[in-house]
Amino acid sequence: MKNQFDRYIDRHGTNSVKWNKYAGRDVIPAWVADMDFPSPEPIVEALAKRVAHGVFGYSRPPTELMQRLVDRLQERYNWQVDPDWLVWLPGVVPGLCLSCGCVGVKGDAVMTPTPIYYPFLQAPAAAEREKIDLPATNVSGRWEFDSDLMRELITARTRVFLLCNPYNPVGRILATEELEAIAEICLERNIIICSDEIHSDLLLDKDKFHVPTAMLGKEVANNTITLISPSKTFNLSGLGGCAVAIIPNREIRTSFRKQATGLVPGVSVLAYEAALIAYRGDCDEWHEQLLDYLRGNRDYLQQEIDDIPGLSMTHVEATYLAWIDAGALHVKNPHDLFLAHGVALSDGDQFGDANFVRLNFGCPRSTLEEIVKRIRFALEELE
Ligand SMILES: Cc1ncc(COP(=O)(O)O)c(C=O)c1O
Repeated sequence: MKNQFDRYIDRHGTNSVKWNKYAGRDVIPAWVADMDFPSPEPIVEALAKRVAHGVFGYSRPPTELMQRLVDRLQERYNWQVDPDWLVWLPGVVPGLCLSCGCVGVKGDAVMTPTPIYYPFLQAPAAAEREKIDLPATNVSGRWEFDSDLMRELITARTRVFLLCNPYNPVGRILATEELEAIAEICLERNIIICSDEIHSDLLLDKDKFHVPTAMLGKEVANNTITLISPSKTFNLSGLGGCAVAIIPNREIRTSFRKQATGLVPGVSVLAYEAALIAYRGDCDEWHEQLLDYLRGNRDYLQQEIDDIPGLSMTHVEATYLAWIDAGALHVKNPHDLFLAHGVALSDGDQFGDANFVRLNFGCPRSTLEEIVKRIRFALEELE
């Protein structure tokens, strides 16, 4: 029987950022992080019903959504979240920028890991903060942070640490002790943690689990802004996000909300509707099937990349993104090389390392196979 995720859906002509960029060219896009799969049917049906109502005035978060989300966090992580802590946002990225600006003053500093999803690199400047990079290192195939280096790089004016877990682009699920090491330093130095956990429902390794940073203890929770959203998992990115910042600390929450006033729009009626269906559990079976399919894509890709001289990738524990090291090819720009051969990957330079490319494998296997074929062809031509 054919897998539902094997179905190719033509996204040309749908104003897709991913597909429009190279429209009219023989280029397969595997860059920006959305998947080429339709959202689960219960979401599509609920949206159709809501659209049929025809009135789309300003909206509030549905009470049921708040309750479902709170229940979900309790069930999954034993995390008791007070609905008062929730700040709804039209996307996680605005939450990153608001987090940078909600403590301290202009000219203070924000620390961000590198390589990193590129809005982390832009958020400090948006809040008129200095940016301090904390480079992660590949230790025997595992991207890790060095606590001594972190301590060394923190300045007296560092007020916020932007954390990404699971970690885009390297696909790591940070273990409890890694999170504890970061949280301990942040508490010591009076630094607020903004923990972007948007990929926490995209865990591919079955023997690993997601630990919300705020679950490390009361003191850490009081020092943490957690950002989550159903948009990555249920492929809702273009719908107008329904993200939520979970902020137990009242003072930080008040400042965060104040920063958002007049600047950040409300969440759309449709995004609330989709989030409700996602968090209600109506799509749980679809979600499991998606993860299985992504595991298959990941394993196939790993096998292929391991077999291609000049390329390597570390094991992807979570997300549908592979961080591929092309440094051994010694070409000026690996992204341009692959683009010239019909594959649009994300340029690693954007994330902080031009020797890398990021490949989005959230697509039918046949598309992934064609991507790999083109990558191989590009390298044959190079010889
Ligand atoms: C770590 C991370 N945060 C945030 C986002 C984007 O979130 P949003 O579309 O809700 O702004 C992405 C998208 O790829 C991401 O990988």
